[in-house]
Amino acid sequence: LTSKRYPKLKRGPFATLTDADVSSLERLVSGRVITDKSDLDGYNTDWLRTVRGASTIVLRPKTTEEVSAIVSYCHDRGLAVVPQGGNTGLVAGSVPVFDEVIISTQLMNNIISLDEVSGTLVCQAGCVLAALDDHVAQRGLTMPLDLGAKGSCHIGGNLATNAGGVRLLRHGSLHGSVLGLEAVLPSGEVLDCMSTLRKDNTGYDLKQLLIGAEGTLGIITKASILCPQRPNVVSVALLGCANFQGVLDIFRETKTKLGEILSAFEFMDTASMEMIGENLRLINPISASPFYVLIETGGSNKEHDEEKLSALLEGLMEKGKAMDGTLATDTTKIQAIWGLRERMAEGLLHDGYCYKYDVSLPLPSFYQLVEDMRERVEGSAKRVVGYGHIGDGNLHLNVTSSEYSQHTMDLIEPFIYDWVANYKGSISAEHGLGFKKRDFIYHSKSPSAVALMKQIKNLIDPKGIMNPYKLLPSK
Ligand code: FAD
Ligand code: MLT
Ligand code: ZN
Repeated sequence: LTSKRYPKLKRGPFATLTDADVSSLERLVSGRVITDKSDLDGYNTDWLRTVRGASTIVLRPKTTEEVSAIVSYCHDRGLAVVPQGGNTGLVAGSVPVFDEVIISTQLMNNIISLDEVSGTLVCQAGCVLAALDDHVAQRGLTMPLDLGAKGSCHIGGNLATNAGGVRLLRHGSLHGSVLGLEAVLPSGEVLDCMSTLRKDNTGYDLKQLLIGAEGTLGIITKASILCPQRPNVVSVALLGCANFQGVLDIFRETKTKLGEILSAFEFMDTASMEMIGENLRLINPISASPFYVLIETGGSNKEHDEEKLSALLEGLMEKGKAMDGTLATDTTKIQAIWGLRERMAEGLLHDGYCYKYDVSLPLPSFYQLVEDMRERVEGSAKRVVGYGHIGDGNLHLNVTSSEYSQHTMDLIEPFIYDWVANYKGSISAEHGLGFKKRDFIYHSKSPSAVALMKQIKNLIDPKGIMNPYKLLPSK
């Protein structure tokens, strides 16, 4: 619990919610206020169940105007707020640390328009990613991002965290796919940057500041997003590999041989595969190997794409780069293979406690971190597993134990952050800093960069009410 585990953290100088505040806020979003303790629990607890806040209120606006009215009220009263989408974030950014007012985008789930010629989707921030993808699929388009949490995460949360996921390799980051954005600033003012244009070089690109700001600069209320054409032929291959150098060789060969049809290149180690078998009873369809790669292609010509992928796999087998492999072209088998990779985070929770890390590293040193960590926590952890978006240089390193142990934590941190900084990596590749990692920001950002971030925060949120205790360091 926050209070037990972070005894040195002091509540900010914010007002405390009174009965009069509750009545005033209830008038702004009548019938959409949660104050019942048992109903508040889920909103106060993060997805990993490692941080629990003590908020006494959740507000569920439906429109930008309602968000604006709520934030204006909180701003004037000096009440701190925390924006919450699907609450699938992995760094405890979406839950209150103390008693912040929770503003949930759950009911802001309208799709406003879809221009199928340009591929521009305009929607409210609370739309669930999978629902948006189903919607645009009907017009032959795809969302430019995909991740294991798609059934619950909101597009607003995706934008606020600048979520990466399994298709970043193909479609790039959200900084490129978002054409426009609307947000409510900490003063309650609405910032309208709702362009739907592909090209628009007129002044500072303010929407980029909100993307990846983890709700510290304002609440995203709407967005326009460029949706690429949906591939009509998808194939997936799962390959086993004897060593990590083999994984890198396969990646190189895959890019050369598949070119434009490559849509994902993911990686798992044998400890991850064993874990998902034990904890979720998912079956590995190929023989056990030290490493696995998942390759997905998405294109428009079935014969051409399958021919290219089969030729790649045959070549890799012949050269001995792949020990074993399977190719899936039908939806059920494709989904089963993707499940092995996408359900890793869920599987790990079955161990008890999960110490979760998400780093970017140069590929030659990528797996060494997992090996060094394994050696370091031997005897103090249940498992150390590595998987991730290797095509983007992004490693997910997870250590598990039956319950939280300060001793294990002390073995992991700050060792891992020092290690990553030493290898010129990033301590948070895609999950953000949130509450858990904010004090390690200097391992990846220079003092001058952090100083400017603080100035920007002070300029936009001088009272500091918008998602306090997140992203920026405590000192
Ligand atoms: P929340 O968890 O509710 O919030 C996340 C942060 O954004 C918080 O700081 C919150 O205050 C802020 N926020 C939320 N909504 C708004 C808004 N409208 N305006 C301003 N701020 C807001 N992340 C990846 O990058 N890649 C992955 O592959 C990936 N896979 C995942 C798989 C699983 C199973 C899980 C549980 C999580 C995964 N995540 C991944 C982490 C997570 O960041 C994403 O799931 C997602 O982007 C969070 O969206 P959300 O709506 O749940 O946001
Ligand atoms: C993933 O890629 O599976 C997610 O980022 C979640 C995780 O890191 O476990
Ligand atoms: Zn990920």
